[in-house]
Amino acid sequence: MPDLLNPADPGFARDPYPYYARLRARGPAARVQLANGTHAWLVTGYEQARAVLADARFSNVPPAAAGRPKPDSPAQRARGCLARHMLNSDAPDHVRLRRLTTAAFTPRRVDALRPRIERLADGLVAELSGRLEREGTADLVDAFAFPLPVLVIGEVLGVPEADRADLREWTYRVGSPADALAQGAVDEAWTRLHAYFTTLIGNKRRAPGDDLFSALVHDASEGGLDDGELLAMAFLLLFAGYETTMNLLASASLLLLTHAGEAAAALRGGDAYWDAVTEETLRHASPLEGTTWRRTTERVDLGGGTVIPAEDSVLVVLAAANRDPGHFPSPDDFRPARYLTGAGRPAPHLAFGHGPHFCLGSRLARLEAAVALPRLFGALPGMGLAADPAGLPYRPGLLVRGPRRLPVR
Ligand code: HEM
Repeated sequence: MPDLLNPADPGFARDPYPYYARLRARGPAARVQLANGTHAWLVTGYEQARAVLADARFSNVPPAAAGRPKPDSPAQRARGCLARHMLNSDAPDHVRLRRLTTAAFTPRRVDALRPRIERLADGLVAELSGRLEREGTADLVDAFAFPLPVLVIGEVLGVPEADRADLREWTYRVGSPADALAQGAVDEAWTRLHAYFTTLIGNKRRAPGDDLFSALVHDASEGGLDDGELLAMAFLLLFAGYETTMNLLASASLLLLTHAGEAAAALRGGDAYWDAVTEETLRHASPLEGTTWRRTTERVDLGGGTVIPAEDSVLVVLAAANRDPGHFPSPDDFRPARYLTGAGRPAPHLAFGHGPHFCLGSRLARLEAAVALPRLFGALPGMGLAADPAGLPYRPGLLVRGPRRLPVR
């Protein structure tokens, strides 16, 4: 009998690790039944996760008729169009799309965002501190972990500030599990995102800014991308770029607030310790719980008696691979020191994925954390949690993971 898995269950969303540990003990991949009745294979071990992510027999292209057939509608068409991005493609399409984006995302361009990120973070910390003085409490997700990456991705895409709250709401909805929200709300979000990006691209063509997306729109015309591909690219950058980073900042803050000794050590230890906090948070609380879905193009024998038939769905659970005790001693402990130079070489975590789809934004995400965390904790050293950490609500689903609210005082 396959294990039953309900990604919308609040208890599972908060602490999925014991479940994943059980699956890992069963072999290289475990077949589970999802709450919607479909079946999938979950890969939870570190070595197997790396192997699957580097293996071309696991395709990123979603099957043509994924899920139940849905009637044609504007939302369905918008969804189909926005989903044509590089994370949903295999070579050679993937190579073509990725090359163009890599060219726009140069380390120089990313690093040039630092002063802007510093200003944004300083502004948010000042607002937060004012609110704590006036009101006594605030939600750190709403006041800091969410707005910073949204403002940064707004910089990357050249999106006006007034539109950023809408983008957050639509992105949240399209990333939620199918049964967690009313279908009308999800459909509306797809349609609005599609319309928004269509207008944005038109605006960039007419009046390019100095943002990274304007460069991409320009290069895309030269590099043979059609409008649909560009539209999907904008969607991917938004989707991949902010919710992940928001969860990194929220989870790092929660871990520091519940590990006072680590917060003090980081404040004493300077940049190297903050970097170690970021790496350990990426490992311990992987913001992307699973990668995007893969599908076997042929029968794959993973060894140990595990054979996945052709055309089956496979999910590599990064959060689980990053807690594999075979690679990380005491994996459930939060110990930034394992990432300090001189502490031996820990296995590289898989929070940014592995193989051809390795995260294109890892440098930007690390930069945001390096700027944000020391500012937040440096300015508010007395900040404490205003809720029981064991009862905090988590984002449902298998894709992104992080606390939805983080009340502080
Ligand atoms: C803490 C923050 C982040 C985490 C944990 C993260 C994680 C990941 C992971 C695991 C993948 C691979 C998914 C798969 O194989 O299915 C990925 C891909 C990607 N990420 Fe990130 N990401 C983060 C931030 C960002 C940012 C800030 C951007 C850009 C603004 C970004 C852009 C992308 C893109 C474009 C891809 C697709 C690459 C491809 O298909 O070749 N990510 N990310």
